[in-house]
Amino acid sequence: MYVPSTVVTNDAFVKMGLDTTDEWITSRTGIEERRLVGRDEPTSELAVKAARRALQVADVHASDIDLIIVATCTPDQVMPSTASLVQDKLGAKRAGAFDLNAACAGFAYALNMGAAQIESRRAKRVMVIGADELSIYLDWKDRGTCILFGDGAGAVLLQSADTPGILTSTVGSDGSGAGLLNIRGGGSKYRVNGNGAGPNGTAKHRAPAGDQYLRMNGQQIFRWATQMMTEAAEQVMRESGLKPDQIDLFIPHQANLRIIEATARKLGLPPEKVFSNVSNYGNTSAASIPIALCEAIDAGQIEVGDNIVLTSFGAGLTWSALAVHWTQEIPTGGKSPWTPFRQQLDSRMAAVQSALKRQERRVRSTIDERLGREP
Ligand SMILES: CC(C)(COP(=O)(O)OP(=O)(O)OC[C@H]1O[C@@H](n2cnc3c(N)ncnc32)[C@H](O)[C@@H]1OP(=O)(O)O)[C@@H](O)C(=O)NCCC(=O)NCCS
Repeated sequence: MYVPSTVVTNDAFVKMGLDTTDEWITSRTGIEERRLVGRDEPTSELAVKAARRALQVADVHASDIDLIIVATCTPDQVMPSTASLVQDKLGAKRAGAFDLNAACAGFAYALNMGAAQIESRRAKRVMVIGADELSIYLDWKDRGTCILFGDGAGAVLLQSADTPGILTSTVGSDGSGAGLLNIRGGGSKYRVNGNGAGPNGTAKHRAPAGDQYLRMNGQQIFRWATQMMTEAAEQVMRESGLKPDQIDLFIPHQANLRIIEATARKLGLPPEKVFSNVSNYGNTSAASIPIALCEAIDAGQIEVGDNIVLTSFGAGLTWSALAVHWTQEIPTGGKSPWTPFRQQLDSRMAAVQSALKRQERRVRSTIDERLGREP
């Protein structure tokens, strides 16, 4: 996992003049602080840092990855995908790469897709990353949303194995709730450049003022989320034959402690089996589950043989849940003492190779132009 270094406490909102209190935010959401990105920290940077750590723990070379999926709704650019930027920065020469947008449910969706690639033998190693910077889209005057979100990234490396780790999974969507949580501006409907259809288009499609911000109906999301997270978790538990007392750890999307606790109660899970770090990071969107997973591992709350249920929800509306049987011993700090050095070398080499390729492309096109050669 990787989170930016800037910590913003609830009091910082009060200091900047927002009509709120630390007491309100803590009691209604469980959030005490969150991390926010700086100016030159696009989503791909967070994603790469998390992915490098995953490679280090797994002791695997970037060049051994077959596929990179970046779950994000805050990509660096409309195109190319953030995953392609990550692939280049990692030096993952053999990997295919694409972004997946299922908002806050993105990581669980991506885990599902990555596992399917391995199960169908189309890939042996899939890097699944959840990375988001929703702070970029927050309206700092909207107290109902700006206090909720933080930035971060988390990554896991999926590998083929004899014993399946992901037992069952489910994904779902209900687009009738699209208006409950959205960022409307910047897409093809509300265009940042105001282009209409074709060369004679007018500016009528420009995003209305304020549509570049995240907007949400918090109460309706709250009610729906509690119900949906419970139903999705129940479905994967039923399909994998796991009873509540066989679940060792429940890792829900970290959006609001009250949603997490209500869901756990409905599932009949005691508090000690429920992981939450929402107090430290707020809602980091697609990064929330992998960050929670990493911290649960660090805290010694996950051991080989454990059954874990992950469940998440997000804009769309979307949801996903997975039942996981943990099969892999996690070596702390990598298996070999040389791993960090090799990684540094790998990332330097990746940067050099990328620069060389760009140079080669420039030289080739200049030569082709001079010689009048068709591309
Ligand atoms: C947003 C959320 C924290 C609001 O909590 P709530 O208990 O539902 O609060 P309400 O929306 O009913 O608002 C109650 C009052 O608190 C006010 N309020 C909202 N945000 C506030 C804040 N930061 N500080 C102080 N008061 C606030 C409201 O304006 C409202 O005031 P009013 O009664 O005078 O109109 C909660 O609905 C929530 O977490 N929803 C889910 C959001 C979510 O998870 N989104 C991410 C999806 S991936």
